[in-house]
Amino acid sequence: MKNYAGRLSLAVLLIFGLCLNFSAAAWSATWKMALGDSNGSPQHEVGKKFKEALEAKTNGKYKVTLFLNGQLGSEQDTVNDAAMGTLDMSCLAINNVTPFSPTVGVLSLPYVIQSLEEAAMLTQGEVGRELTENTIRDAGVRIVAWTYTGFRVLTNSKKPVSTLDDLQGLIVRVPKNEIMIDTYKSWGINPSPMAWSETFTALQQKVVDGQDNPYLTINAMQFYTVQKYITPIRYLFSIEPLIISEQLYQSLTPEMQEIVLAAGREATSHSQKFLADSEAAIIKDLTENKGMEIVMPADNEKLWIEKATQAVWPKHYKSIGGKEKLEKVLEILGRPQQL
Ligand code: MLT
Repeated sequence: MKNYAGRLSLAVLLIFGLCLNFSAAAWSATWKMALGDSNGSPQHEVGKKFKEALEAKTNGKYKVTLFLNGQLGSEQDTVNDAAMGTLDMSCLAINNVTPFSPTVGVLSLPYVIQSLEEAAMLTQGEVGRELTENTIRDAGVRIVAWTYTGFRVLTNSKKPVSTLDDLQGLIVRVPKNEIMIDTYKSWGINPSPMAWSETFTALQQKVVDGQDNPYLTINAMQFYTVQKYITPIRYLFSIEPLIISEQLYQSLTPEMQEIVLAAGREATSHSQKFLADSEAAIIKDLTENKGMEIVMPADNEKLWIEKATQAVWPKHYKSIGGKEKLEKVLEILGRPQQL
C-alpha cells in the first residue's frame, strides 16, 4: 500500500513537471509579421503598435519581428502562407484578402464607406465581427486589428485627370481584385491587375501610367518620385486588416488568445488616431514639397459615382453574400436610400 502511494505521488510529480515544462516551452515565441508597405506607413504603425502591446503584455516572452516592403512575398501570397501556418501574421490591404474571402468585398464596394468614422463603425462593430468569422472559415486567417489608411486617390504621371473623359487612354494598375477591376471598367477603361510588390517598378519603368492608393501610402512608398497628378476620388476607403494564422491562434492558450486580441484592439485605436492626425500634413507635404499636383474630380464626382455604383454593386451582390449584406451596411451607416 505504502509502495503504491509512493509510486502514485511520483507519477503525479512527473506529470506536473511535464506540464510545467510544456507550458514553459509554449510560453515564448517570436512571430514573423509580413507587411506590404514601408517604414512610416499605416501598416507599419499598426505592426509596431501590436508588437509593442504584445511584448509588454507578455513581459517580452512573445516577440514579433516585422518584415517590411513585401520582403515575405506579395500581400496575396502572405494570406496563403498564414493559412498554411508557414507565416504567423500579415498586415495587408483588404482588397488583397477579398480573393480568399469574398464577403469582405462589401467593404470595398465603390462609394459605400464615406469617412474614417464610417470605416471604424463598420469594422469595429457587428459587420467587422461577421467578416472576421467568414475570413477564418474561408481563408484560415483571423483578423485581429484594422488599419485605416484613407481614401484611395488616383495618381498618374501623364496628365491632369478631372473627368472620365480625361481618364480614357491611361494605363492604370489595380490590385488583383474583381471589384476594383470592374469599377475601372465602369469608368470606361481596362485596368492592369498587378501585385502590389510589382507596382512601384511598373510605374517607374512606365509600364503603367497610374494607380490608386491613399495619400499615406503614396507618401510612405515614395510614389511622388514616379507620379505627378492626383485626382482625389473617394470610391474606396482603404482598410488593411492585421491577420494571424488561425492554426497559430488555435494553438494558444485562452489567456494568450485574449492577449493577442487586446493587443489588436490597441493597434486598431492607434491606427484610427494616426490617420486622423497625419493625413492633412501629408497632403500638404506632397503638394508643397514633393511636386505633386491635385486636380479635383469634376462635378463632385457625380458621373464616377453613378457609373460605378450602377454597374459594380449588382454584379457583386452574390460574392458579398447577397444584396441584403449591402442593405445591412447602408442601414448601419444611416443611408438605406443609397441602394
Ligand atoms: C494595393 O494597392 O495592392 C494595396 O493597397 C497595397 C498596400 O498594401 O498598401
